[in-house]
Amino acid sequence: MDFKLTEEHIMIRDAARDFAKTELLPGVIERDEKQEFPKELIKKMGDLGFLGMMASPEYGGGGMDTISYVLAMEEISKIDASASVMISVNNSLVCWGLDTFGNEEQKKKYLSKLTTGEKLGAFCLSEPEAGSDATSQRTTAIDKGDHYILNGTKNWITNGSSADYYLVIAQTDKEKKHKGINAFIVEKDSEGFEIGPKEQKLGIRGSDTHSLNFNDVKVPKENRIGEDGFGFKFAMKTLSGGRIGIAAQALGIAAGAYELARDYSKQRKAFGTEICNHQAIAFKLADMHTSIEASRHMVMKAAWDKDQGQNYDLSGAMAKLYASKTAMDVTVEAVQVHGGNGYVKEYHVERLMRDAKITQIYEGTSEIQKIVISRSILKD
Ligand code: CAA
Repeated sequence: MDFKLTEEHIMIRDAARDFAKTELLPGVIERDEKQEFPKELIKKMGDLGFLGMMASPEYGGGGMDTISYVLAMEEISKIDASASVMISVNNSLVCWGLDTFGNEEQKKKYLSKLTTGEKLGAFCLSEPEAGSDATSQRTTAIDKGDHYILNGTKNWITNGSSADYYLVIAQTDKEKKHKGINAFIVEKDSEGFEIGPKEQKLGIRGSDTHSLNFNDVKVPKENRIGEDGFGFKFAMKTLSGGRIGIAAQALGIAAGAYELARDYSKQRKAFGTEICNHQAIAFKLADMHTSIEASRHMVMKAAWDKDQGQNYDLSGAMAKLYASKTAMDVTVEAVQVHGGNGYVKEYHVERLMRDAKITQIYEGTSEIQKIVISRSILKD
């Protein structure tokens, strides 16, 4: 067993840390307030290789391992979880999904633009009545020979308006239930495709989240991913890896809040000494540090499983469940350590607390992770 990072891993982690501090930190409060994310920043993330980290180099990807990806996710999430969710969706859902299950033409046409940031991707599974219950897809994709016709609504879609290519899950044959579901690549300018209003969110407010409407959208057959009926498996397999990315995001949010609280406690004085000298604060920091370190081990283990070609459904679900709870607990305590200052925007911890909550909801709620975990440990 070797817990040491390689030189390459350290380089990637430091590059992500540097990018987050120099490029993301300066406008992060304003982006949260205005609910916006400038296109130039997305371009910078693409230029630096953060949007296609694990994808194959022949399609413009970085060819990196999952350990590198989670290291970058942690560093970027310490500063700006809105940026890291865009990175996460593009990397682990869209690029990984296409790289692993797309055909040569799809990879050449779509993946090679998504890995570089020239285009951005979105993953469209959730619907008004199909969130956790993902097999109950109401969006239909009727087979018309050389094309499909899509009708329906998708909800809470990350990169909803900023994406160019959308991976859309829809029901082709209702009789076959989840075996009659397909996944498609839909281009933004398709006729009948409409972007709904932006959601007004509690956290990750810089990232754009929208509902999407499909009104008789014609999608060529060559844009179906995999064999007929592969769509639900595609979504599940893709989400298994996505959950490792979100676990890393939760870890980063927790670690970012902890570092702010630790540094603040060494400067702020009360009752004649720095507050870190009071056991009430020192013990909070000890608990925060311990649960963050445990989360980091779980995230790394899940990433390692994936890199070793082992099954990572269980380790990814456990990492997401644990790290997202840690993110909630730690950010609440970080606000407490900051006292009154924790409640105002310029100290950053209130934003991190708001950002933390979504990690217990998207890419499978904590309750869904417990379904995945319990089924996995009870199956033998
Ligand atoms: N890999 C491969 N196949 C899988 C799988 C996996 N990880 N998990 C399930 N499957 C397969 C099953 O084997 C089964 O196939 P067979 O019938 O051929 O055996 C099929 O999928 C159906 O599985 P279940 O019977 O287990 O289905 P279920 O109805 O009990 O639901 C569930 C399973 C795990 C609860 C699933 O519905 C689920 O994960 N729900 C949560 C959905 C989710 O995570 N949504 C997130 C939205 S995306 C998002 O948030 C992105 C963003 O923008 C940030």
